Amino acid sequence: MADTQHQVAIVGCGIIGRTHAQAVAERPDATVTALVDSDAAAREALRAELVELGRPEPKVYDDLTAALRGDVSLVAICTPSGSHAVLAEQALGDKRHVVIEKPLDVDLVRARRLGAAATRAANHGVLSSVISQHRFDAGSATVKKAIEAGRFGQLTSSVATVAWWRSDEYYASAGWRGTWAQDGGGALMNQGVHTVDLMLWFMGRPVHIQAQALRAAHHAIEVEDTVVATLTFESGAVGTLHATTAAFPGGRTRVSVHGTEGGAEVENDRLRRLHLDGEKAEAPVDVGGPGRHRAQYDDILTAIANGTPPAITVHDAIDALATVRAIYIASTLQRPVRFIDVLEGRYDDVDVSRGVRLPPG
Ligand SMILES: NC(=O)c1ccc[n+]([C@@H]2O[C@H](COP(=O)([O-])OP(=O)(O)OC[C@H]3O[C@@H](n4cnc5c(N)ncnc54)[C@H](O)[C@@H]3O)[C@@H](O)[C@H]2O)c1
Repeated sequence: MADTQHQVAIVGCGIIGRTHAQAVAERPDATVTALVDSDAAAREALRAELVELGRPEPKVYDDLTAALRGDVSLVAICTPSGSHAVLAEQALGDKRHVVIEKPLDVDLVRARRLGAAATRAANHGVLSSVISQHRFDAGSATVKKAIEAGRFGQLTSSVATVAWWRSDEYYASAGWRGTWAQDGGGALMNQGVHTVDLMLWFMGRPVHIQAQALRAAHHAIEVEDTVVATLTFESGAVGTLHATTAAFPGGRTRVSVHGTEGGAEVENDRLRRLHLDGEKAEAPVDVGGPGRHRAQYDDILTAIANGTPPAITVHDAIDALATVRAIYIASTLQRPVRFIDVLEGRYDDVDVSRGVRLPPG
């Protein structure tokens, strides 16, 4: 047995698997004991990197089943999005704690089944959490606290934009990118889901959703590269959401929350404006910093040690996934849809790949 408290298996040793391995490697209470990837070069490269960092040498495997026979207490799922739920369910079924990269999955039916498995596992002390690292940015946490304390007054609206650029080379860099089956969508599902999660965290659950999804620039991909949506929330507030990978040179993400006594704007993970209780706040206006997997690992490993729920649950991630899917369904059907109908499966048979248009003209 590795002599640390948490023995971590990283499943998927690509771009984000490396971020997980580094976050774990920095901790005294956790060790990466297993690396799983169907691509030998990917798992070997990460193994060499951990050894270079002076960490214990992890075992390497080509699938999760083999890794679960070894010393593994926590499984981090870092594979293409369409494989998350099945792998997570397998690990939970084997009583290992699970951390799942965003989005939870691309398929809401599988996601609901995982939700049920996560609830059963939690009853036996087995934890699951989903990465949404921007909830841990100091600026976003300040906004959430202000909303909970009523310091924006009555919430009236929210505006979120994810205006990024992704080149054709990016979409060609791995076979799963830009596909419905494994990426599950484009600018919204892949790049925008962090912002969807933040909007729901601030504003609560949506009620009605209308949307248009386009393939505005990247015509070689299956999924959308541009989407706009309007949402109403249970509180009565409204919101607009814009996500694109066709905004050269890209890079800006902004979420604003407005209320009758205050509001805030978070831009590129930093708090740019804060008004509380009817006045410009003296509180730090530029707190923030990049979202960190490290902060979320802190939350997850503390929750495991204390036997408490993590900050972000599979059920939070199901809401974000259902919102993304509701946007695709509204664009496909060209009419508003109710979030609850999507969440509860009344649109499960809609093929959203029909809902992405080419630009008019
Ligand atoms: N939280 C974030 O900010 C963030 C950032 C980037 C990616 N992601 C998410 O992380 C996931 C992976 O993205 P990426 O950019 O690292 O992709 P990637 O293509 O760089 O890496 C994925 C790896 O998984 C491996 N793999 C595929 N199927 C597997 C299986 N069944 N078992 C084991 N290994 C398998 C591939 O060989 C590849 O090495 C996606 O869901 C993506 O949305 C999250």
